[in-house]
Amino acid sequence: MAKTANSISVGHWLRQHPQLARIDLELSLCYTLECSRAHLLSHADSILSLGQLKQLQDWTDQLHAGIPFAYLYGKQEFWGLELAVDASVLVPRPDTETLVEQTLACLPDRTYAAANGMRPRLLDLGTGSGAIALALAAERKDIEIHACDISAPSLALARTNSETLGLPIHFHHSDWFNNINGCFDVIVANPPYIDPADPHLIALHAEPNHALVAQEHGLADLRKICCHAAEYLHSSGWLLLEHGHDQGPAVRSLLAENGFSPAQSCKDLGGNERVSWGQKGADGAELIHG
Ligand SMILES: C[S@@+](CC[C@H](N)C(=O)[O-])C[C@H]1O[C@@H](n2cnc3c(N)ncnc32)[C@H](O)[C@@H]1O
Repeated sequence: MAKTANSISVGHWLRQHPQLARIDLELSLCYTLECSRAHLLSHADSILSLGQLKQLQDWTDQLHAGIPFAYLYGKQEFWGLELAVDASVLVPRPDTETLVEQTLACLPDRTYAAANGMRPRLLDLGTGSGAIALALAAERKDIEIHACDISAPSLALARTNSETLGLPIHFHHSDWFNNINGCFDVIVANPPYIDPADPHLIALHAEPNHALVAQEHGLADLRKICCHAAEYLHSSGWLLLEHGHDQGPAVRSLLAENGFSPAQSCKDLGGNERVSWGQKGADGAELIHG
């Protein structure tokens, strides 16, 4: 028997949208029904009201149009932190947690820093929602974290996230290093790195172009950062970069050409070489991990 609009259950509605990510559908239902995922899944027979169906239809229309769920929901989890997001920022990706992990590994050890009266300084270039800087601030309360972005709306959102989470960050409105002063122990960046001709860009049309696209086949911003980072790093400081899955060799070359060695790369959760780094003034060959 055909179902009428007012006899559609949670389970039936979930099956109506096979093209959309199951997690987005479940979270849409949780938001609409104001319940947890556990409750939702154990009440798959619950009938949705017409008002609920109307709201869900509005969300699925937007999801079908390529609007990320995080923009509809206004939140995205990263490194266990709930971040506010809107269309002014890139939705933080789980893969970027690999960059956070590697950055934590390069920071001076907490006990060593305390014993030597050090307060390590870190700079996050192109902070967007503040994801990387805030994840690091959550892990290392003993370091001084600075973050910049060229986009004023992104910075405003990152500042809100910093205040909401109670994780202090020094924010700077800056075109890469143009408005940055002083030297750091670690510089980390997830800059735009997609080639303007990359066909995958179509699927990302709802996210800001300035967060995604770079000239020179996606390498222009990575090159600028590699060229100038040493001026803003203490001796033996580290530069760590996220980049495209096929840009590892090019980024290791940029690091090595600019005095960072050994130029190393590791793979993200999907098994792609997506994070590369090197140390200012160190000696060594090129290394690939994982
Ligand atoms: C790929 S997004 C990364 C956002 C965030 N760090 C993350 O990992 O989710 C790149 C960020 O770089 C910023 N950006 C682009 N060009 C910039 C520039 N010339 N100077 C500073 N930030 C820039 C964008 O506004 C965007 O927030």
